[in-house]
Amino acid sequence: MSIQKPKGTQDLLPGVVEKWQYIEEKARDICARFNYKEIRSPIFEHTELFQRGVGETTDIVEKEMYTFQDKGDRSMSLRPEGTAGVVRAYVENKLYGEPDIAKLYYIGPMFRYEQPQAGRYRQFHQFGIEALGSTDPSLDAEVIAMGYLFYKELGLKGVRVEINSVGNPAVRAVYREKLQEFFAPVKDQLCKDCQSRYDRNPMRILDCKKDQHFGVGAPSILDYLDEECSVHFGKVQQHLTAMGIVYEINPRMVRGLDYYTHTAFEYKCAGIGAIDTISGGGRYNGLVAQIGGDDQPGVGFGLGLERVLLVLEAQGVEIPAGRPLDAYLIGMGEQAEAEVTKLLFQLRSSGLTAEKDYQSRKMKGQMKSADRMKARYVAILGDDELAKGVISLKNMANGEQEEVELGRLADVLKR
Ligand code: HAM
Repeated sequence: MSIQKPKGTQDLLPGVVEKWQYIEEKARDICARFNYKEIRSPIFEHTELFQRGVGETTDIVEKEMYTFQDKGDRSMSLRPEGTAGVVRAYVENKLYGEPDIAKLYYIGPMFRYEQPQAGRYRQFHQFGIEALGSTDPSLDAEVIAMGYLFYKELGLKGVRVEINSVGNPAVRAVYREKLQEFFAPVKDQLCKDCQSRYDRNPMRILDCKKDQHFGVGAPSILDYLDEECSVHFGKVQQHLTAMGIVYEINPRMVRGLDYYTHTAFEYKCAGIGAIDTISGGGRYNGLVAQIGGDDQPGVGFGLGLERVLLVLEAQGVEIPAGRPLDAYLIGMGEQAEAEVTKLLFQLRSSGLTAEKDYQSRKMKGQMKSADRMKARYVAILGDDELAKGVISLKNMANGEQEEVELGRLADVLKR
């Protein structure tokens, strides 16, 4: 039997990969405008990083990591998300010592052992940003606005922004007790996962699909925010409003990672089966210290790129195809073929996209091939043309044909 790709992974083949390149280019462009610089951290890290960073009681760390012992008997994990690795790199490379804050972005694969469905994979890709070194609420708002603008510029329609404050550890300790009080009468009726969440992380019960109805009427964390938290949350909203970003407050938003403090946010959009959250992020003021660095604050987002493509597809948004083929060169006869090799190299060297046949096909077969590749021009060189030092150039859009001096082919194609 032939070997197949692992469950929950995708082969991104030519034809589709151009869409990825387009989206990635858009991500890089928006990062340049917002002054975020690229960081490339390892795809696997010491397992402990995610245990400490993402949190021991999260589904990600408890159930979903690809963890293995390496040949040196160290526990390693494929990264399930980007923030922990970036924060580790920030600490390890002492980026906190720089005079300016660190504004970083990444695009790459992440791995979670989840049950695959539309919009959920075991290897997926995130475009993420992390801004480290400032508690300024305008930075939270900048991050939220940037993700919103990214979607907007790609042409996604109907993206909604939801925000919440998950407070600080002191606020959450109080809220946690309130939630336990609230759920106590129905504790025995909760699902098995939620019964264990009740003691370890009751906020997560609000996020459970099975037990959603038990959460109706649950206390809101916003009622327990202290002065510092509500001032911060209020200012984030002011800055969002200043940028004209429309948002909704969702006091029941629970993110699947433990590191969040203050601002948490999600982007929502219909179009991917049961999933309506297309991405999210938030502030994480304790994480850098937890990972062993200076006590530096951070805020960021992680946007799943598969979900961008699925929504674009569902909404029928056209993505520009890759670069078109400028010319397809056909040489008839041995001498002409040698000349084509030379011309092809010249065209490619001068920045044009050009192709030829490699399967010894007849003229007709080569013309068909040029058609399939959507070549803008086909240039044909036979013995007659060669003798005259010209090449016959056919415009595939209108069928017009002209003879062009061999030395001028690149210039003619460029105009
Ligand atoms: P997250 O909510 O776990 O946050 O993931 C962010 C996004 O990654 C999701 O909203 C979704 O678009 C995508 N994603 C997650 N899991 C899958 C999957 N199995 N298949 C397809 N897409 C998926 C984080 O990862 C945080 N690191 C975000 C962040 C950055 N917060 C602060 N900075």
